[in-house]
Amino acid sequence: MKKNRRLVVANWKLNPPNLAKAKEIFSATRRNVRNLKRCRTVVCPPFSYLSSLKTAGVPQIKLGAQNVFWEDRGAFTGEVGAAMVRSVGAEYAIIGHSERRRLGETDEMASKKIAAALKAGLTPILCIGERERDPAGAYFEFLKNEIKQSLAKVQRSALKKIIIAYEPIWAIGKSFKDAMQPNDVHQTSLFIKKVLADLFGQEEAVTVPILYGGSVNFENAGAIVRDGEVEGLLVGRESLDPKAFGAILKIVDAI
Ligand code: PGA
Repeated sequence: MKKNRRLVVANWKLNPPNLAKAKEIFSATRRNVRNLKRCRTVVCPPFSYLSSLKTAGVPQIKLGAQNVFWEDRGAFTGEVGAAMVRSVGAEYAIIGHSERRRLGETDEMASKKIAAALKAGLTPILCIGERERDPAGAYFEFLKNEIKQSLAKVQRSALKKIIIAYEPIWAIGKSFKDAMQPNDVHQTSLFIKKVLADLFGQEEAVTVPILYGGSVNFENAGAIVRDGEVEGLLVGRESLDPKAFGAILKIVDAI
């Protein structure tokens, strides 16, 4: 990502219920991004809608998958490969979202998926985040390990192709006033950068955009990006409402 750029990722999760509705939300979002100057958006719909959503002619909008499998082909019923989603228009892939980790995805699996995504020419958006914040600060160690294990297969030279989405699990899908406080976002993003610097070197670490995700709406988006000093956001629920999502994009674009 170029310096001075902002990025807001829309994670549609298992929504909307049909292609007609997906096209409707996407068209409205594509209209909303046309006037953005610094901010870009990546819309991550369910796999089945990817090939029907068109980004051509609007450089501010791109498509991403919500997951990829680590193998390219073979006897893996139900899985979808990174090159497959690339071939139907995805340029990004969310990897290791907490809702996938809850279904059994491990750091080791996330690391294989990142390697597959990079090989297919996708930009991986690695999700990390602690389940809870304990007063003793054990969550720092948890985050450090999650980063280390999930990026275990990434070469130093490939780090610049990675995006990290910090999503504290306790803040996802909650009331919008329960999103993380901007100063805590700032403290954690500094910690993530420090871990990356220790693993890959300072020069490489500064190239990695850090996003925040978890109960973002138009009211908290500005303070989180500005005072949290993150490059952008990963938005769940509010990304399905083009008006609400458009408001978030406009706010982030102006920072
Ligand atoms: P939310 O979801 O914005 O609905 O909390 C964020 C996410 O899980 O990516």
